[in-house]
Amino acid sequence: MKETIHGFSTEDLMKMDVTALRAMLHERTHHKIEVLLYRILKGKMKKPPNLGYEAELLLNIWKRRGLPVNTPDIQWCIKYIELANKLNSGEIVRLNTELLKPFTSLEMKTVKKLLYTRQSIRQFTSKHVPDEMIREILQAGLMAPQGCNIGSTRFIVLRDPEEWKLVRSDIPIENGVIILICQDLKTYNVLKFDELVPQNLYYDAAAAADHMCLMAHALGLGACWLTHGVETQKKIQEYFNQPETFVTRCHIIVGWPDEAPIKSAKMSIDDVIITPKNTNKTP
Ligand SMILES: Cc1cc2nc3c(=O)[nH]c(=O)nc-3n(C[C@H](O)[C@H](O)[C@H](O)COP(=O)(O)O)c2cc1C
Repeated sequence: MKETIHGFSTEDLMKMDVTALRAMLHERTHHKIEVLLYRILKGKMKKPPNLGYEAELLLNIWKRRGLPVNTPDIQWCIKYIELANKLNSGEIVRLNTELLKPFTSLEMKTVKKLLYTRQSIRQFTSKHVPDEMIREILQAGLMAPQGCNIGSTRFIVLRDPEEWKLVRSDIPIENGVIILICQDLKTYNVLKFDELVPQNLYYDAAAAADHMCLMAHALGLGACWLTHGVETQKKIQEYFNQPETFVTRCHIIVGWPDEAPIKSAKMSIDDVIITPKNTNKTP
């Protein structure tokens, strides 16, 4: 029988859209090496025969197609495939990684300042937001957790007020920058994860947006998360000449704050922790 990965033969993979192939390589490395490796190294599970062979096959196809291997994500896959191969050949694998250290009390102060003083800002001055700051914000978005490590997140930065009209917003935007958090659905579709875990797409975008708002706040900028629907998705697809598999999911507005809102107050922690005892409690 011919070997297939997610139902795709080698011939299919040689012709496959590069974004989809890259997603498969990420996913097979994640599910078939990364999440197993540490349990194997701890002796909690037996190494499956040919650990990571699917990821290696995909990497070989990637290389045969002459695609770049020097990007951080592909280097990450290569590192795991090499570790898997070491284990397959009976070598003892020792990682030169260290357990993460808890934050110092000074670092905790900064973390709490970041998390507890962030607030949604909706009005901005006309002062220019430097590109470097926007890049910091995008980088923070990219660092967010993402379902199955597939890598579907894409960004569009809109600086031109004319382009802002493409995006449905329930508040008028006068200054600042709009950042669209988009997704290339080819990554999900190829794995059928759009059927298996469609919710992950929304979570991916949410996690990215939150990281970005926090980074904006740390940079002294203000930001607010906003949602939009299918109408905006269609307009963005058309304007940026993208296929239906490219969707914008939500957006944030970022700029130099021109308002100092009263900080939103949340419910008390005891009111939101559900236990069998307080289930029927009405505040
Ligand atoms: C999923 C989501 C959708 C949101 N949509 C909007 C929106 O459409 N318009 C808006 O002004 N703010 C929007 N916000 C911001 C919230 O109103 C804001 O986070 C909330 O009021 C709490 O205030 P804070 O961010 O200052 O803590 C949204 C936030 C989230 C997480």
